[in-house]
Amino acid sequence: MKTIHVDTGRPYDVLIGNGLIEDCGKLIREKNAARKDAVKAAVISDDKVWELYGEKVTDSLRSAGFEILKKVLPNGEESKNTDNLISVLEFLAENEFTRSDLIVALGGGVVGDLAGFAAAVMLRGVDFIQIPTTLLACVDSSVGGKTAVDLRAGKNLAGAFHQPRLVICDLDVLDSLPEETFKDGSAEVIKYGILADPRLFEHLMDKGLEFDREYVVSRCIEIKRDVVNEDEFDTGKRRLLNLGHTLAHAAEQLSSYKLSHGKAVAIGMSVFSAAAASYGICDRLTAERIREAVKRFGLPCDTDYSAEELYEVMLRDKKRNGSSISIVLPEKIGRCIIKKMDIAELEDFIRAGL
Ligand code: GLY
Repeated sequence: MKTIHVDTGRPYDVLIGNGLIEDCGKLIREKNAARKDAVKAAVISDDKVWELYGEKVTDSLRSAGFEILKKVLPNGEESKNTDNLISVLEFLAENEFTRSDLIVALGGGVVGDLAGFAAAVMLRGVDFIQIPTTLLACVDSSVGGKTAVDLRAGKNLAGAFHQPRLVICDLDVLDSLPEETFKDGSAEVIKYGILADPRLFEHLMDKGLEFDREYVVSRCIEIKRDVVNEDEFDTGKRRLLNLGHTLAHAAEQLSSYKLSHGKAVAIGMSVFSAAAASYGICDRLTAERIREAVKRFGLPCDTDYSAEELYEVMLRDKKRNGSSISIVLPEKIGRCIIKKMDIAELEDFIRAGL
């Protein structure tokens, strides 16, 4: 088992290894990730994940002395809404969940974000553990304490920074993922290569979907850890992690979330890299390599949405500040910049990448 320590205001470990889910109760106790007087563990999950891992997780938590509460939501992005947030909070309150108890988020990004936000606001903040069950959640959303739900006006518009007490990343779980879900998470993995690690990028180009899971997952989490340690509250360097995401969120929203997050990020990285090359921010070869990487993983590079449609949605992006917006662009593989762009220039910039 590998341990990556995250040194945020309240530090915690990310555990990476095989077969960890079966031992989650023991690991939580060993790592002192629950209070000594915690009685209840409220497992929040989705129906698909619950079927696969619910019993293993609850058995392990019970063996570690926890009384189990269970809340299962329908699988999918549509679940990440305020109604479900409130229903989780009401459920916890009805079951006399106290400040010393523990929330366990068992699932992908949707469950992790929603359960994390519930943990941030329940009784003004309770402990929670992340057990990510998708590649995307392992390498990105479970680490760093961003929690949220979607609002009608856009994705992740209500949320809080609330760090987990422990992240348990079981690599075996990745074997049970449908190929589409695994591919989807690969977009975030490619992102880390472009952001910070040419060697990681080349490994991904070389191996495609057969990449070395322990090396890649660990390396991505280390890169994220380094960024989050420096900028926990997303006021500077952490915005680099949004590579591809500004356009992705717009495309996802335009598709009414039928377009998956990973595919949208793949399109976002490809389009903005092509635009960056047109504006001389990176060379053509860099933009081409990024498109090749996206294609190597069977992910899309292009979108049918027009620059105008994407622009209109981006105007409501969280990263907009008055008349400017910060976008992340590659300079070369392994190095990206945050560019503050006047809103008036954005539509032409998108068009240059389409
Ligand atoms: N997923 C981007 C971040 O955690 O900042």
